[in-house]
Amino acid sequence: MAQTLSPVRPVRTIASRTQAAATSLVTLPTVVAHRGASGHRPEHTLDAFRTAIRMGADEIELDLVITSDRVLLVRHENELSRSTDVAHHPRFARRCATRSVDGVPAAGWFTEDFTLAEVKQLTACERRPRLRPGNTAYDGLEGVPTLDEVLAMVAAESIRRGRPVGVMLELKHPSHFAARGLDMVAPLLATLRRHRLDGPHSPVTLMAFETAVLQELASRSGLATVQLLGRAHERPWDLACVGDPRTYADLATPAGLEWIDQYADGIGAHKDLVLPPGGCPASGSEEGAASHVVRDAHRLGLTVHVWTLRAENLFLPAPHRIGDDPSAIGDLAGEVRAFLDAGVDGIITDHPDLAVAARAAHVADGERQQAG
Ligand code: G3P
Ligand code: CA
Repeated sequence: MAQTLSPVRPVRTIASRTQAAATSLVTLPTVVAHRGASGHRPEHTLDAFRTAIRMGADEIELDLVITSDRVLLVRHENELSRSTDVAHHPRFARRCATRSVDGVPAAGWFTEDFTLAEVKQLTACERRPRLRPGNTAYDGLEGVPTLDEVLAMVAAESIRRGRPVGVMLELKHPSHFAARGLDMVAPLLATLRRHRLDGPHSPVTLMAFETAVLQELASRSGLATVQLLGRAHERPWDLACVGDPRTYADLATPAGLEWIDQYADGIGAHKDLVLPPGGCPASGSEEGAASHVVRDAHRLGLTVHVWTLRAENLFLPAPHRIGDDPSAIGDLAGEVRAFLDAGVDGIITDHPDLAVAARAAHVADGERQQAG
């Protein structure tokens, strides 16, 4: 029987935060480990998730795709060659294909062409070997986990460490899979039910960039839902398919957020939507100034997570880079501080260790200022 996770937080963080402030208790913004501690281990492996929990992450984030026999796998995209050794298996050589995924041409090996038993013959490897060469030491040590396996591991780790660990689940390519007769919603809800994670105090949050699938999940489950918002000019694939012209920038406006508030509990915004690089000339704000997204979302009671904070210079805005080497570690703590100052409710990061430390330092600074 599946072990039960205890809740990591209530559905609407903002409401609880207001209540907490009234009683002088502080609700901290959460640190969410993106694909596990993917700055330290190959992403989406059990080791990456365990490492994140050991480092103090409040929640783990993971992506879901599906096999031809309808098993949910923990992978970032349905093409397998960037994060597994599939290309080195002669028996699968003829399975290599090209197709359009969410309107983008892709080539490789696709999960919808593989059964679970076939996927289980593969091993996981580092997606960014040149940027994160240390992580390649773990290549080949683990297979591709199913959602079932990750949930069982998180339940065991929560018990072992005596604290609840949240799980933010993102459905990838739901329209693409549905067009091939592979519905993701039913297996997802069945898996959560089996693990007794479908109740009102479940620590699971459901997320998607597509909007229709999130609306379906919101109506068919009582779980917290987060609408992901990509780069400003991009569009949710399901809206693009029906000719809806709205971009993520449109969904981040007050009107867009009101629409999201009809079905979701929060947003998961690309970090540039909250702290636009170079400021926001349209509103006259300068470099480092926050957009109105957090304020507008909070007015509606929507929580705000930002993604993805990564420690390497390559991913950091200019003021937080240290030196010229793109793979060198920069000032992630400074970036975390900027988002905490902007009032976000959660930081989704490849480096949960650094984010947890930065959050603690930020809290200590605040306490010192209050005392002084
Ligand atoms: O959780 C949001 C974030 O993970 C979305 O981006 O591409 O890493 O899934 P991606
Ligand atoms: Ca994701």
